[in-house]
Amino acid sequence: MLSWDDYSENPTTEPQPVPSMQEPEMDLRDMAPVAAQQADTSTAAPEAPAATLQETTNDNDAVAQAKAAVAAIDPTPGKEELELGATRIQVDDKAMINCRADLNQLVPFKYDWAWQKYLDGCANHWMPQEVNMTTDVALWKSAEGLTEDERRIVMRSLGYFSTADSLVANNLVLALYRLITNPECRQYILRQAFEEAIHTHAYQYCIESLGMDEGEVFNMYRELPSVANKASWSLNHTKSLSDPTFNTGTHETDQELLRNLIAFYVVTEGIFFYCGFSQILSMGRRNKMTGVAEQFQYILRDESMHLNFGIDIINQIKLENPQLWSPEFQQEVTQMILEGTELEIQYARDSMPRGVLGMNAAMMEEYLHFIANRRLAQIGLTEQFEGAQNPFPWMSEIMDLRKEKNFFETRVIEYQTGGALNWD
Ligand SMILES: [Fe+2]
Ligand SMILES: [Fe+2]
Repeated sequence: MLSWDDYSENPTTEPQPVPSMQEPEMDLRDMAPVAAQQADTSTAAPEAPAATLQETTNDNDAVAQAKAAVAAIDPTPGKEELELGATRIQVDDKAMINCRADLNQLVPFKYDWAWQKYLDGCANHWMPQEVNMTTDVALWKSAEGLTEDERRIVMRSLGYFSTADSLVANNLVLALYRLITNPECRQYILRQAFEEAIHTHAYQYCIESLGMDEGEVFNMYRELPSVANKASWSLNHTKSLSDPTFNTGTHETDQELLRNLIAFYVVTEGIFFYCGFSQILSMGRRNKMTGVAEQFQYILRDESMHLNFGIDIINQIKLENPQLWSPEFQQEVTQMILEGTELEIQYARDSMPRGVLGMNAAMMEEYLHFIANRRLAQIGLTEQFEGAQNPFPWMSEIMDLRKEKNFFETRVIEYQTGGALNWD
């Protein structure tokens, strides 16, 4: 258990004399930070006057300036639309985009689903180091541990995902956060951004544990066509939004934001992740690379919540701005989803030239058609692949698992959110 006493000393430095108001004769040099004292010993510092701390405070221009600045504060917020003492925010003032109400007031909630997802995300917290990678390391390093086809799948998956989650995180914090004008949604976006950092951490943890060539894995998104094409498709859809001068507020720019949301939530997180996830999880079900598979299992559970959040945001923006969802725009979005599906099918063929792990590229194509139909239907568009079935029904079971019920039944996890502070 942590105690505040743990913070009373810094074990890495020598204890320093603490300035005290009861020691008026203390030389001012005693109060200088250690680093400053050590910074320059080549020239002798001029002898400091034997001033007291009290006198110094009184005479300190900087403190006087700070006091004057505080006295001159105008409590009216900088934005002209926020008047001090104006009516408190009402639920109806809130909107997903182009909202003029105060974005610093989390409550009253308008979008309870966003707040609930934030709470659910926190309840599902996990860290990559909790997963035991020992058997994976032994299997990966053993000459007969995995077939060439199985090794390719592990390499391709880590190659794509190790950079894909950074692309998603960059889009969230550099483009999307500013343009979604609702505090409860922003709260979830902040949670999601941290989860993306955990996912990148998990991939790095796998790559490091297995002793892979990091340069090869992290550059696959630029060097290997089936991986690079997916990454470049996602990047192309964040270009205009990440321009700091981009703003919503016109028909065209509002539609551009919707395009970005569909490209990242529906296609990148909703389609591009599914071939790699199902391949690695199929490996885990066959008792191979169970540590990597367990990491992917937790990531997939997070990702399915990201996807659902994105679908909710998109549908809410459509509801509040029906003019954006024109027949032409619907056609364009359908085309985007079909392009994403085709890119993922190409990735499946490249990563799985032969049948492996009870799957093959044709089954994966069927699965991706099934997924694409679901994504289209989730945002109110017509399904494009008639009669597509799910050849991997176990994928949905994995997504719904709670963390404490470990899919591989290797252990039961009790997540502890940190040591409790002792206030005594
Ligand atoms: Fe992620
Ligand atoms: Fe995600």
